[in-house]
Amino acid sequence: MSDEFAKDVAEGLLATPKTLPSKYFYDAAGDDLFIQIMDLPEYYLTRAEMEIFRDQTDALIQALGQVPDQPFELIELGAGDGQKTFYLLKGLLAAGYDFTYVPVDISSNVLEHLQRYLADKLPDLNIRTEQGDYFKRLKVLQETDLPRVILYLGSNLGNLTDDKSKAFMEKISRRLTAGDRLILGVDKKKSADIVLPAYNDSAGITSAFNLNLLTRINRELGGEFDLAQFRHAPEYDEENGIATSFIESTADQDIKIGTIGKTVHFGKGEKIKVEISRKYDLPIIRKIIADTPFEIETVFKDSRSYYLDIVLLRD
Ligand SMILES: C[S@@+](CC[C@H](N)C(=O)[O-])C[C@H]1O[C@@H](n2cnc3c(N)ncnc32)[C@H](O)[C@@H]1O
Repeated sequence: MSDEFAKDVAEGLLATPKTLPSKYFYDAAGDDLFIQIMDLPEYYLTRAEMEIFRDQTDALIQALGQVPDQPFELIELGAGDGQKTFYLLKGLLAAGYDFTYVPVDISSNVLEHLQRYLADKLPDLNIRTEQGDYFKRLKVLQETDLPRVILYLGSNLGNLTDDKSKAFMEKISRRLTAGDRLILGVDKKKSADIVLPAYNDSAGITSAFNLNLLTRINRELGGEFDLAQFRHAPEYDEENGIATSFIESTADQDIKIGTIGKTVHFGKGEKIKVEISRKYDLPIIRKIIADTPFEIETVFKDSRSYYLDIVLLRD
């Protein structure tokens, strides 16, 4: 990971404009901060998707299109703490379904927690964890010949541009067979007064989460970032429905990063783009899956219609 991290950091910080990949947010400190983000009053996303999984569990189970006595795999990309999926897992076990849960996550820390939590709460669950970057480990979708349901929740797709989303959905669909399904959880396009605070909370947790990327570079790559000289600067383009998180340099400065053997110059006000969080509606999703064998089968919404869980059927 460290070699790849060094390569990605060098590439991103020596480019114009500067960028850093958001997948590096999730070290142990980042995992903890993200758990705090999910509890923030401004961060409506988790609560909205949680409500769907908690209040519509039976309908979701029906929408998976499986039958109790036929084994299948439930594979989750970027499982995190599995809090929403828990309702589904519990419901499936109670209804006697025969399935294996396969959480995939880049963070081994997250997977260890999840495994311990589920062993305690759902001791009858069959579980096989897979640690790795799901963009590179998609063969995990083809490890058995069983029917598959993929969960891709938390609006994780929204961290990709639409072109990259298209390519990723195509790649996933090529690994699936007819009748397999993917549940895609996405945040809905809405006004800036609701969206922007979700990325700029008053307690400063999102800021700490973003700036932790610099702490990680300091620790793992011998970086010399002074966090007091940088700030979290989110923006939301309401018309296109794209929130972007930047880390902004508050001074003109040169930062040495030992492992990559470079000094990176930052002008005052210069920004590093660290994450986009795209917001969707069904026409945008239809465009993204247009060249894939996926079709929209069912759409679940929360009570405020802030969030969508879309069941895609692989033809
Ligand atoms: C935003 S959290 C969402 C967690 C959960 N799915 C939810 O909806 O609450 C993203 C999770 O995906 C993981 N993740 C992010 N990028 C990843 C990647 N490229 N490959 C595998 N896991 C990734 C992170 O470690 C984190 O646990």
